[in-house]
Amino acid sequence: MSRPYRFALIGCGFFAQNHLQAWAEMSDVELVATCDINPDSAAAAAETFGGTPYTDAAELFANEELDFVDIATTPPTHRMMVELAAQHQVAAICQKPLAWDMNDAQAMVRAMADADLPFMVHENFRFQYPMRKVKEVLDSGVIGRPFFGRISFRTAHDVYSAQPWCMDAERMIIADVSVHQFDLTRFFLGEPDRLFTEAIRVNPQIKGEDVATIVLGLPGATCIVDTSYESSSDHSTYPQTFVTIEGTDGTVTLGPDYHLQVVSPAGVHEEQLVIPEHSWASEPWNCIQDSVVNVQHHWIHCLESGQTPETSGADTLRVLDLTLGAYQSLDTGEPYRVGSML
Ligand SMILES: NC(=O)c1ccc[n+]([C@@H]2O[C@H](COP(=O)([O-])OP(=O)(O)OC[C@H]3O[C@@H](n4cnc5c(N)ncnc54)[C@H](O)[C@@H]3O)[C@@H](O)[C@H]2O)c1
Repeated sequence: MSRPYRFALIGCGFFAQNHLQAWAEMSDVELVATCDINPDSAAAAAETFGGTPYTDAAELFANEELDFVDIATTPPTHRMMVELAAQHQVAAICQKPLAWDMNDAQAMVRAMADADLPFMVHENFRFQYPMRKVKEVLDSGVIGRPFFGRISFRTAHDVYSAQPWCMDAERMIIADVSVHQFDLTRFFLGEPDRLFTEAIRVNPQIKGEDVATIVLGLPGATCIVDTSYESSSDHSTYPQTFVTIEGTDGTVTLGPDYHLQVVSPAGVHEEQLVIPEHSWASEPWNCIQDSVVNVQHHWIHCLESGQTPETSGADTLRVLDLTLGAYQSLDTGEPYRVGSML
């Protein structure tokens, strides 16, 4: 592969606009095609960002010479898109969640591995600037050995106007948001080996669960993942994630409005984190938008260096196992033994 990397973006909907903006600020990529079953969406993206618009992904792969494809459709089409990429020897980065079931996800990972192609999942929360700062604190060792974590995402923001599919999803907030928090749990604390879920539906107009709490057990540590679309607070902190990690020598806390506090034997360190700016980004989305840039830079770095992406397809099977396991625990009322579906 030589630079600039020629790529296509499939699925030009709500979140893909961030992908398109982030790619546009990178010099080593060239958007050669856009694709959406909605012709207006494909055309609008191509008009603004370049490339030839398509409404059929198979036609796109047949016609274009691509180095990679960026898949930003919703999960039911992810497998089809990844298998098309594998058939055409094209590397792929695909939005989360990779799939709704393990068979589909494993088939995608196998197809890309058999074709010997790089494959990354666009799991962006660990690429948020404040999460990298928390990880730096943990890696520095100042709080000692972590034994407790809480990763919290609670809001009353109306998520349904921009993502109407969330209203009809039988499985909703765990698949939509806790999935990111599971990946953060792994990023900060390592691999869980058991979990237990409590979840309810508060909003009567939706089908799935909108408030969930999952307790994860790790060797020598416990982590609580709590997620809600029904929680009011004194001011909106959407779409921020809060983190507390307690260790044997101290505590690191990422609180509202990106306030970082580190309590350690050296004292109390307070820091107001400033999210890197992009001309197209705007509050309150700026942290997420910046994370998209970081994901995409990581992907290009991996293509260049041959490094396996942090959130490779294979690695993401573990996140899917936690997500499906969380629903199994909810359905059975029993703890889930992590890894049982792998
Ligand atoms: N990482 C994050 O922070 C984050 C945030 C929001 C959404 N997402 C993920 O992004 C993905 C897209 O979500 P969204 O909210 O943008 O959805 P969306 O419905 O707004 O966009 C999906 C687009 O895909 C198109 N599409 C559907 N089937 C297609 C096909 N067969 N061929 C070509 N195009 C097709 C649709 O027409 C639509 O324009 C989901 O997987 C979602 O979980 C991630």
